Amino acid sequence: MSKDFFSAVKQRRTYYGISKEAVVSDERIREIVEDAVKHTPSSFNSQSARVVLLLGEQHDKLWDITKETLRGIIKDDEQFASTAQRMAGFRSGYGTVLFFEDNSVVEGLQQKLPLYKDNFPIWSHQSSGMLQYVIWTGLELEGFGASLQHYNPLIDDQVKKEWNIPDSWQLIAQLPFGKPTAEPGEKEFQPLQDRVKVYK
Ligand SMILES: Cc1cc2nc3c(=O)[nH]c(=O)nc-3n(C[C@H](O)[C@H](O)[C@H](O)COP(=O)(O)O)c2cc1C
Repeated sequence: MSKDFFSAVKQRRTYYGISKEAVVSDERIREIVEDAVKHTPSSFNSQSARVVLLLGEQHDKLWDITKETLRGIIKDDEQFASTAQRMAGFRSGYGTVLFFEDNSVVEGLQQKLPLYKDNFPIWSHQSSGMLQYVIWTGLELEGFGASLQHYNPLIDDQVKKEWNIPDSWQLIAQLPFGKPTAEPGEKEFQPLQDRVKVYK
């Protein structure tokens, strides 16, 4: 079992080259997302994570919105051309997972347990990171490639409007995924002896 887990951990990479070809059914994707949301831990079991899964045209719409938003910000045409190319890359994928945290849950905890007031927003983001990782790794185990993106807060208002997202949900990250069309490059690793210390 631990071998399987670490195979998945070692196999997960950032894939920018992705296509719209289906790798597994939409139901299976939904199952991965739901299992991850249900079983990823959160501080005080607060379960503040919220997820929106965009498939098909809805996925395309997200990357059209992101491109248009960035067009309004990046004035230089040449610089925008490379941004537009990047957006087209994400749009050419199969779907996107949007990660949110429900700040009303975080605020509720802050009121209930003032001793940990400053920690709850940090723990909320840590728990979201765990969830992002579980879904990223879970989708790649199925044969998808994915990357983690952060166009929040630039796209927050448009996303909330388009998908009727409650005001208290804060967008944290976007995970576009699809069938890999290109393998990630070599990855450099820093020496572990500088990063891990063991005392016994
Ligand atoms: C918290 C976090 C934020 C990241 N943000 C971005 C991002 O905004 N855009 C992006 O292309 N990659 C992003 N990445 C991906 C990293 O650049 C990537 O994971 C790292 O270079 C290691 O490569 P690998 O994912 O192939 O192992 C992020 C990764 C993490 C863990």
